[in-house]
Amino acid sequence: VNGQIQIPVVVNVLYKTAAENISLAQIQSQIDILNEDFNAQNSDFNQVPSAFSGVKANVGVTFVLDAVYRKSTNKKSWGTNDAMKKTSTGGLNPTSPTTKLNLWVCTIGGGILGYAQFPGGSSATDGVVIDSRYLGDTGTATAPFNKGRTATHEVGHWMNLRHIWGDTTCGTDYVNDTPTHNTANYGIPSYPHYSTCSGNPIEMTMNYMDYTDDAGMYMFSNGQKSRMLAIFSAGGPRVSFAQ
Ligand code: ARG
Ligand code: ZN
Ligand code: CA
Repeated sequence: VNGQIQIPVVVNVLYKTAAENISLAQIQSQIDILNEDFNAQNSDFNQVPSAFSGVKANVGVTFVLDAVYRKSTNKKSWGTNDAMKKTSTGGLNPTSPTTKLNLWVCTIGGGILGYAQFPGGSSATDGVVIDSRYLGDTGTATAPFNKGRTATHEVGHWMNLRHIWGDTTCGTDYVNDTPTHNTANYGIPSYPHYSTCSGNPIEMTMNYMDYTDDAGMYMFSNGQKSRMLAIFSAGGPRVSFAQ
């Protein structure tokens, strides 16, 4: 495997309004951002503080736009119950979900930017959902989530990453080189932001798996990279993508 994974991406657009039927340019901008962020090519990678320069990662996974499917619907918002992933509930079934990353783009509602399925789940619902207002960095992309980092974060989940704070106070993300965070961070925290957890480490608030604004997140760590690449290795839950 060693960093040569190339993931075909199928984009399923579900729209009611013309604005929700986002342009190909907006879709391609998201693919470009995924390639930058997963290959240490993002223009803000050099903003990683020197304290973390030893662990900032080039994950080495690439993404290629494979197909775009579009469907007009009369649903105003889709929620998070996977209805958008099923033709039987008005959505679109995934295409080749064991070899292609399916992305659904629609209005989710409830203030949700996106959500992902972790490895090991049903292939019928596998993939990532992104609200059309938070996809890519052009068209309808809306500040402060208009730099495509919602998809970077969600694809991180799809590749088995947990939130950096472990979804509980001073919880674990099962990654050794990320500091223990007190809780989620929002906005763009000033550096250094100290954890209240054991040892009071400086939090890695600029990690994609925190909850900051898009402009506040610009790195994965080497430990996160190992955890992601493991799913594509022999016996791993996404080995079918590595062939
Ligand atoms: N709230 C979403 C989740 O936990 C996505 C957060 C994305 N953050 C961002 N700055 N785009 O899955
Ligand atoms: Zn998340
Ligand atoms: Ca950690």
